[in-house]
Amino acid sequence: MNHSVRLALTGFMGVGKSSIARHLEHMTGCPRIDLDSLVEERAGKSIAEIIDSDGVTRFREIEAECLSKVIEADHGCILSLGGGTWTIAANRDLIKHSGFTSIWLESSFEHCWYNIKFSRKERPLARDKDAARKLFDERQKVYCLADWHFLIKPGSTSYDVAIEIAEQVL
Ligand code: S3P
Repeated sequence: MNHSVRLALTGFMGVGKSSIARHLEHMTGCPRIDLDSLVEERAGKSIAEIIDSDGVTRFREIEAECLSKVIEADHGCILSLGGGTWTIAANRDLIKHSGFTSIWLESSFEHCWYNIKFSRKERPLARDKDAARKLFDERQKVYCLADWHFLIKPGSTSYDVAIEIAEQVL
């Protein structure tokens, strides 16, 4: 198993972080960690339940705690962040100062929205298209602070993007 790679994938909801992380896991032999899943395990409920019953602030606290645990663990991983994790300055600092290479996966809003709409994963911060578009527009300026930027072209698959990342970043 490869323990030397530390990659953090960021980008808007529906861009394909989890599937790209899955391909990178197979390509590198480095374990994939899905931050949203850690948050759900830690809270014992779904993200939608956390946000709806405890609020976004509480969700961000649990997310930050889970991120710290992953970062402290002394091993490599392909870390798939939640779409909002990177928008918090303290999370970005933690990621940047712990040997992770951050990667912004970008695609058009319409592509993300299509995936959000037809996914089984519930996204409480993107229940309506206008709210999702507003977040999308606001976040571009922070996503671009990542070390690398991959623009997902129409028609390219998550496998194609993972290959590109492996060739250029690893
Ligand atoms: C969020 C993105 C979600 C999840 C939560 C909040 C966001 O993850 O963390 O619903 O603020 O963009 P995905 O990007 O994996 O959908």
